[in-house]
Amino acid sequence: MPALKEAGIKVIHKCTSVRHSLKAQSIGCDAVSVDGFECGGHPGEDDIPNFILLPRAADELEIPFVASGGMADARSLVAAMALGAEGINMGTRFIATQDAPVHQNVKDAIVNASELDTRLIMRSLTNTERVLNNHAVERLMEKEKALGDKLRFEDIVDEVAGVYPKIMHEGTMEVGAWSCGMVAGLVSDIPTVKDLIDSIMTEADSIINQRLSNF
Ligand SMILES: Cc1cc2nc3c(=O)[nH]c(=O)nc-3n(C[C@H](O)[C@H](O)[C@H](O)COP(=O)(O)O)c2cc1C
Repeated sequence: MPALKEAGIKVIHKCTSVRHSLKAQSIGCDAVSVDGFECGGHPGEDDIPNFILLPRAADELEIPFVASGGMADARSLVAAMALGAEGINMGTRFIATQDAPVHQNVKDAIVNASELDTRLIMRSLTNTERVLNNHAVERLMEKEKALGDKLRFEDIVDEVAGVYPKIMHEGTMEVGAWSCGMVAGLVSDIPTVKDLIDSIMTEADSIINQRLSNF
């Protein structure tokens, strides 16, 4: 941390719990990205969704935080700010954009997925990951079911190790497990990043100044 500070670098740490956020604050992080249970990738092991996690973070933290996990549009942004965040971080949503340097099959898979299509894997290894369901994930979950607490990383190495280049660059979608958030259910188009951000800001303005203005 001192080396980063001396170089003038702002540090935003990713946390999936209030206690980890407080730790990040205590060691000098400038901000945190607070990831709820909905998030794509590794949500931690506490399983607290953002409607609880974000106001809890707001109550405890002194440093600013952005809300992460399940964020897709202007509604997400306004809601996250109402819950105490300074902004939002989007993972899955940004992958389904024209600018994202991933194979078209990945973008199409996100657009075609619903909020019911993610699975949590590797829980018994205390390395829980939210991924999009596919044949490899189903195979992996069968092994998890069969082996229970005896599961070792070596048992599932074919489904999780080294699969990202094949999926992200070659578009071989069934080769393994890849991170994806429940928010895929809210993603139905593949805009440019500019159009996505512009529409979020315009619609957020309309939610705040029209829909919510009479409250
Ligand atoms: C394909 C993919 C890969 C990711 N890889 C990482 C990673 O390497 N390290 C990390 O901290 N988070 C990773 N994440 C999680 C994101 O940084 C972010 O916390 C998460 O996507 C937010 O949830 P959302 O997908 O609902 O927007 C990944 C997410 C996705 C979808």
